[in-house]
Parts: sequence; C-alpha cells; structure tokens
Amino acid sequence: MGYSEIYSGWKADPEGFWMQAAGAIDWVKAPSKALFAEKAPLYEWFTDAEVNTCWNAVDRHVAAGRGNQVAIIHDSPITHSAREITYAELKDRVAGLAGALKAKGVAKGDRVIIYMPMVPEALEAMLACARLGAIHSVVFGGFAAHELAVRIDDAKPKAIIAASCGLEPGRVVHYKPLVDAAIEQAKHKPDFTLIFQREQETAKLVPGRDFDWHEAQAGVEPADCVAVEGNHPAYILYTSGTTGAPKGVVRATAGHLVALNWTMKNIYNVEAGDVFWAASDVGWVVGHSYICYAPLIAGATTIVFEGKPVGTPDAGTFWRVIEDHKVKSFFTAPTALRAIKRDDREGEFIKKYDISSMQALFLAGERADPDTITWAQTHLKVPVIDHWWQTETGWAIAANPIGIEELPVKIGSPSVAMPGYDVQVLDEGGHPVKPGTLGAIAVKLPLPPGTLPTLWNAEERFRKSYLNHFPGYYETGDAGYVDEDGYLYIMARTDDVINVAGHRLSTGAMEEVLASHPDVAECAVIGVADQLKGQMPVGFLCLNKGSKRDHADVVKECVKLVRDQIGPVAAFKLATVVDRLPKTRSGKILRGTMVKIADGEDYKMPATIDDPAILDEITVALGGLGYPADRG
Ligand code: COA
Ligand code: AMP
Repeated sequence: MGYSEIYSGWKADPEGFWMQAAGAIDWVKAPSKALFAEKAPLYEWFTDAEVNTCWNAVDRHVAAGRGNQVAIIHDSPITHSAREITYAELKDRVAGLAGALKAKGVAKGDRVIIYMPMVPEALEAMLACARLGAIHSVVFGGFAAHELAVRIDDAKPKAIIAASCGLEPGRVVHYKPLVDAAIEQAKHKPDFTLIFQREQETAKLVPGRDFDWHEAQAGVEPADCVAVEGNHPAYILYTSGTTGAPKGVVRATAGHLVALNWTMKNIYNVEAGDVFWAASDVGWVVGHSYICYAPLIAGATTIVFEGKPVGTPDAGTFWRVIEDHKVKSFFTAPTALRAIKRDDREGEFIKKYDISSMQALFLAGERADPDTITWAQTHLKVPVIDHWWQTETGWAIAANPIGIEELPVKIGSPSVAMPGYDVQVLDEGGHPVKPGTLGAIAVKLPLPPGTLPTLWNAEERFRKSYLNHFPGYYETGDAGYVDEDGYLYIMARTDDVINVAGHRLSTGAMEEVLASHPDVAECAVIGVADQLKGQMPVGFLCLNKGSKRDHADVVKECVKLVRDQIGPVAAFKLATVVDRLPKTRSGKILRGTMVKIADGEDYKMPATIDDPAILDEITVALGGLGYPADRG
C-alpha cells in the first residue's frame, strides 16, 4: 500500500489503524480499545492497557534472542573514544541502576530529573526510570542552574541523576556545581542525587545527599519492570513557551510506545538490527524519541554522539561516524549541515568516507532552507527528507514516509501529513483556507497516540495554549500553507518562540531576565535571521530615566545575565541601548516590525503605531549591530 491508501485508511478507521499498530507492542494487559474520549477535548490512548516501556525497549529483545546485538554505540570525538553496549548488557546495566533507585525509595509515579551529557548512561537513567514507572524529566546540559531550579520546583523530583561534567569543545561543563546551585535555589528539595563520575572530572559529593552511581548499585537487587497504566506519564519534557515559565509537556506511556514503533519502519525505514543515528541531544525531544526510545523499541542500534558537526575535529566527523558504524538512516538539524557546508562547500570531506550504508538523511527542528537541502542532495546523493514536528507531538506531524513510499521531494516543504494528523490551515476566524493561502496551522482533535495529553500540573495552561483559540483543534503555533498536492509549508511561528541552531527558545524568558537588570527600565528581544543558526536573539534595552551608566557596560552585564540565568544555549550575545521601543497605541511592542527591519524586509507602517519616528531609531540601532546583514 502506498502513502495515500494508508493515510485514507487511517482516516476511515482510526481506531482500527491504531489497534493494528498496537499489535507490535508487548502488553502486560492488552488495550480493549485505542481512543478514550470521555474527557474530550482532552483525549487519551490505550488507557486501560498495562505495559512497561523499558521491557519493550530492552528486555524483550534479549528474550527474543538478540541479546548480543549492539543496542547503543557511544562515539565521542571529544574524548577520542567509541564503545558498544549490547542489548543483554544494557538490560543488566539498566536493571542494576533501577535497583539502586528503588533501594533509595524511587517508585512508580515519582519524578526524577536527569541532567546529563551525551553518554550512554543518560539513556540508561531514562530507561531505569521507565523500568520502575518513575517519570523522568531530562534537562538539557546547556541550561543554567536557574532553569534547572525552575524545573525542580515544577516537577518536584524525588531524585536528580547527573554526571560530574559535560564536555564542550575546549571547555569542561561543570554539571555538579550547577546541580548544587539549582537545589540551593529551588524551594523543592529532592531526597537525593545520583552522580555519574566521569574520568574527566570527579565531583565532590555531599554526604547523605549525593551518591555515587556505581557505589549505589553495589549489593543491591536488580529491579524488574513495573507495569503501568496506558495513560501513565512516561516523562515530562519542558519546552519554551511565550512566557518565562517553561511548559511541561507530558508523554503518556502506551501511545508513546505504539506511535514511536510505527514511525521507525514507516517514516525512517528502520527495522530491528539496522543502525539509526539522530545527532541531537537527549535534552531535546529528538533525543528522547530518536536517540533513546524509538530505535530501541524497534530493536535497532542507536548512536550516542558526543561531538559537534564541525571542529571535533573537522567537518568530516558526521561522515566518519556513518562509515564507522554503517548508519542506515541519519537525522540531524539543518543548522548542523549549514555549519558543515560553511567549512566544506565542495563536499571534499564527504569524498573521504564510504557513506554508502546511508539510505536517507532526515532534517528537522527548524525550517530547512533550500540551499542547504540542495547542497546535501548534491553531495550525499541520498534522499534528503525534511520533516516537521514539535516537542508537544513527539513524532512527525508531516514527513515523507520513505518506509511506505518515497514521495517526490518538494524543496521547502516537509511533505505531507502523517496518519493520525488531520492538518488544516485556518484563518483568524478558525475557518480552513484555500490551498496556497497562509494561515495558522492546526490539527483536528484528537491528536494521535504519542502526542501530549496535557501539561504537567497545568491543564488550564494546556487548554489556553493549544485548544481554546480554535475549538476542536490543536493549535501548533506555526503558520504556513498547504499546496494543491497536500504538501505543507511551515513559514513562521505565531508566538514569541524563536529557533536558534535548532533549539527552541523563548524571547519572553530572555526579556524577563533582562528586565531584572537594575538599570533596565524596559526591553524587547527579537529573533533575527542568521545564516548559520537560523535565528539569533537580539535585545533592545531602554535604561532607567537619568541613568548615567556606560551603555557598553550595561550590554555586557545583560549578556552575562542571560548566560548565567538561562544558559549558554540561549546564544544571547547581541544587545543595544535605545531610547524608546516602537509600540502600538495600546502599548504592544511591535516586535514583528523590528524583525522585518533587522532582516531587511519590506514592512508596512503599522496603522496603530504610536510614534513612527521610533522605527528610524531602531533602524539606526540595528545598523550599529550590523543588521540587516549582507546575505550575499
Ligand atoms: N552543555 C553545555 N553547554 C552547551 C551544550 C551542552 N550540552 N550545548 C551547547 N552548549 C553551549 C555551547 O558550548 C555554546 O557556548 P559558547 O557560547 O560558550 O560558545 C552555546 O551553548 C551555544 O551552542 P550551540 O548552539 O551549539 O552553538 P555553537 O556555536 O557551539 O555551534 C553549531 C554551532 C551549528 C555547530 C551547533 O549549534 C550545532 O551542532 N547545532 C546542531 C543542533 C542540534 O542538533 N539541535 C538538535 C535539535 S533537533
Ligand atoms: P521543538 O519543540 O524544539 O522541536 O520545536 C518545534 C518547532 O520548531 C516547530 O513548532 C517549528 O516552529 C520548528 N520546526 C521544527 N521542525 C521544522 C521543520 N521541519 N520545518 C520548519 N519548522 C520546523
């Protein structure tokens, strides 16, 4: 069957479609039906089932006789090392770790925060939680102590699992002091921490609170898998919204298993025994779904890569990894390819390696620009598949499902809606628009299995953020259009979320930090177009009346403040002092117009602008920062 038949088959009988997909999962108690609509518009999937994620990702492959197959390859050009862990070893390691957590009181439903770099132990920590039915929340290592503290106070974890350090090129990231500072700042105090000491740094442990990873496992019974209900939260993953408070996206267990397993064969064309590599980080949704869970659920081999696309040691690293480990399907962010393309325009590094194992390259996380796609097509000579999804959905809303059928690629489009997603483009009144017309992209409810059922402890915020604006739909926060062939084009966000190097960030969160600077009276942060990272944040600061502070000093302090409060990942390096911000008469800052000026695009003078002259001042200030940039 081709894509069209499968998509229309799902539309005609969604219940049958998902019950059939559920057949690939090992249930403790099989679900009696797929959709549970009793609490609509809050929907659940496979609620009455009982299941364990770790069993499906690890133990069942050992039971099926594939214990000697490699489950995880750790490839770290930063430490010049590579190692392999088989499914049988993984089972023992995860059961041992889960045993240690259990012995310290972690049980089903408890939250555990994981703050780890790209080492296999990060996946083992996630799987150990899953084994016990504990709910993990992984926090990206590039976030500062304050962001970690915010997540501790929201998730109220019983434990924190962390590594002693992370390794960025040329810099050791001292994780443990960040964990200590976060616990100090947070109101909620976890019972204990479990610390994985890396060779590169031994962290100081606080007696009675901090425990060593290995010592905690000594003499402890390995833990068995605990069956949980289908709607039991597998994890919480915080993501940026419009305000400074991150949203805790909840992932329910059974739908997650069924949907991710379905995607491996149908979207990525990957089966048990194949090698799959997502070059992302466990702190992001791509890392959750496609470094950890989906490849393991499908019985494939996953790669944990600790390095960068360039500089570790050069722009050939990705191709070296593909050759060394015979990667079949590779997934990365367009920004990583742009970094490689910048260093290796002619693809000379690609020629040095045998990348014939690679069948396709998948891109997501941000808009894939045509130049990057064309470069990749020319030099890699494999299908380059853009696909579109979000932390909230956990898997692709739109893709080119090469495991079913390779559809023609249209550059600039992540192709077509996946089964489960009835994607519509709506006007402001919530009415579907004609093909080719720009509008808000929404998905008709219910969302499919594997997507978020709600936000952690914030049902009202869930309704307000996603459901209320267009009743009957999930509002994606993206704007775009669909063409006559049903191909989607994702053009922009409709909120204040920006995308920097494939990382989702909130300008609102940065504004909150800037506003806390004692000399700043008012501020705005916008995302301007950037050739490498897609977007970069730029801050505009209005100082307190009569302030005599040197502008350059305030800017420097503000840049440091954002790095200290949010983290280096915010990449907040550019700010300027202005007298006033452009606003509407009702006081709304005209961020969209500022972005257009920065990007050198034409803009219409907003009819409601309070004082048009301020836009000239903004133009001069942006000119001082080098914007609009020369895009030649
Ligand atoms: N822990 C601590 N710090 C981290 C970090 C981590 N896990 N990840 C990134 N950082 C830091 C970086 O060291 C950098 O710090 P600096 O300001 O001191 O240089 C800062 O955060 C910004 O990092 P990054 O966005 O990675 O930019 P970069 O300039 O170091 O590298 C790219 C540019 C394009 C090579 C890089 O962004 C990249 O590999 N992008 C791919 C992103 C990706 O895979 N995203 C996944 C989404 S699917
Ligand atoms: P995240 O939740 O971090 O995965 O970010 C999700 C957001 O990234 C989406 O809402 C889009 O704005 C953007 N995004 C992700 N993938 C794509 C894509 N393939 N094309 C365009 N935008 C994308």
